[in-house]
Amino acid sequence: GRELTTIEGLEGPNGELHPIQEAYVEHTGFQCSYCTPGFILTTKALLEEQPDVSRDEARAYLAGNLCRCGSYVKILDSVMDARDRLRGA
Ligand code: FES
Repeated sequence: GRELTTIEGLEGPNGELHPIQEAYVEHTGFQCSYCTPGFILTTKALLEEQPDVSRDEARAYLAGNLCRCGSYVKILDSVMDARDRLRGA
């Protein structure tokens, strides 16, 4: 009885990337990408709940997601850029 969105569900009808995906690509918010779908979908949930989230708040929200490559700085850069993109900045 629940709706589920996978990473493929973020793409537009013609395969265009979601603004969050664009931000991750632009900031190289990944290395091996094993963790990337989880981080992107968690970023989506975060920005729906807190569209004006701060970097520290984002860090705390994403704390349950692990990146074995240690890309956390670039992931947070991606989240902040995604926030700005979704706000139209
Ligand atoms: Fe490799 Fe996160 S980019 S686990």
